[in-house]
Parts: sequence; structure tokens; C-alpha cells
Amino acid sequence: MTVHIDASKEDISNIVIMPGDPLRAKLIAESYLKNYKQINKTRNMFGYTGYYKDKRITVMASGMGNASMGIYSYELFNDYDVDYIIRVGTTGAYTDKLDLYDIVLVDNSYSNSAYGINLGYDNNYIESSSKINDVIEEYAKKNNINIVRGNIHCTDTFYTKDYSEYLKYNCVGVEMETFALFVNAKILNKKASAILTVSDSLVTDKKISSTEREKSTLKMVELALESILNL
Ligand code: HPA
Repeated sequence: MTVHIDASKEDISNIVIMPGDPLRAKLIAESYLKNYKQINKTRNMFGYTGYYKDKRITVMASGMGNASMGIYSYELFNDYDVDYIIRVGTTGAYTDKLDLYDIVLVDNSYSNSAYGINLGYDNNYIESSSKINDVIEEYAKKNNINIVRGNIHCTDTFYTKDYSEYLKYNCVGVEMETFALFVNAKILNKKASAILTVSDSLVTDKKISSTEREKSTLKMVELALESILNL
């Protein structure tokens, strides 16, 4: 048990899938896990542990933003001996090369968040795990699932006015959680990656409605779950 997670160590797998939304964590558990049980409901940050095929995994929500992701992923890595976290989230596209529903596999996360500095990581970008990415890319290739590898802008401010700086770093989109997740993985010697579905476009202003959003992310979740079998 930690300050924010009311589970015992044995209740959590060493592999965790993290959507932002607690209700998406519930939907993933209900749709894909066998013999699952709820392992956290503190602050409604739902978490479940069960079996996908024969692999024991935990799916737990991160909440929105680096601050929330920072808390939960830190405690999972540090207190629950989690080795791998894969974020499954959404992104707003910065390029017209990305359409709604496209799937991005994150290479580097760029941010001006203070999250890293506060933990002694003084850099504006951080890389995801190449081990996890390789496994995801291999599964996607074998099964003809189209994914785009790219950098992502991780903002602390949803209503950011000027994102032009991040186009210079070849960021293909924006989201709000990868930076804290990858910093925690780095300082705690663990592995983390992120797969993101394009939910809106800052170029065309198109967006997926919130009801479509739930279903639209299932392809990405299946990609994460199947890839985990090969970790
Ligand atoms: N901005 C920030 N985070 C996001 C967005 C966005 O447009 N879409 C999905 N996550």
C-alpha cells in the first residue's frame, strides 16, 4: 500500500498498461482480462489485475497530466516492483500527415515540464524504451497494423497557445503524460513506452467524439496486449 494505491504488492503484475481514463481501464479489464480483480479504487483511479491469454497483467489508470502520471507510475515502479509500463493514450496531431485514428508509437517525449528537473533530470526530452518499442513494432509489422513512429510534445497546459517550438523537434503530436512516465522509468531503472491514438488534429480541427473515443482506442490496446506476450 502506498499513499495513492491501496493494493498489496502481490496484487500488481510487473507489467502494467496505463490508459489515462479510469473508465477506460475498467473497459479494458472487462473486454480483455480473464479472472481479473479490482486492485485499486482510491480516488477512483481504477486498477485491475488479471490474465490476457496466459500473461498476468495489470491495467491501471494514470489520470491526466504529468503530475498525476508522475505519482502513479513512480509508486508502481518504486513500491510495487513493476518493470514495464506501456501508456495507451490519445494525442492531438501537429501534422496533416496524421489522420484521426492513426496510431503513434512514441520515440522521444519533449517537454518544458518541471517534472524532470525536480527529480534531477535536467533535459527537455527523454526517450522511450527501445526494448518495448521493438516488440510493438515487430508485432505491428507481422499483423499489418499501420503505426507511425515519432516524437511527441508532452505539455503541462492543455490550452497551449504556441507550440511552434515543438515542430522543430519533429513532434508529430501532443499529449500530457509521457514525460513524467519516461523520467520515472529512467531514474528508477525501469522501462516505459507509449502508444497513442490520434483523437484530434490541431491542423484540421477534426476530432473524435467522446463516445467514439472509447471504441477507437481498442485497436491500440490490442496492439499493446499482444506485444506484451513477447516481452
Ligand atoms: N492536447 C493535449 N493533449 C491531448 C490532445 C490535445 O489536443 N489530444 C489528446 N491529448
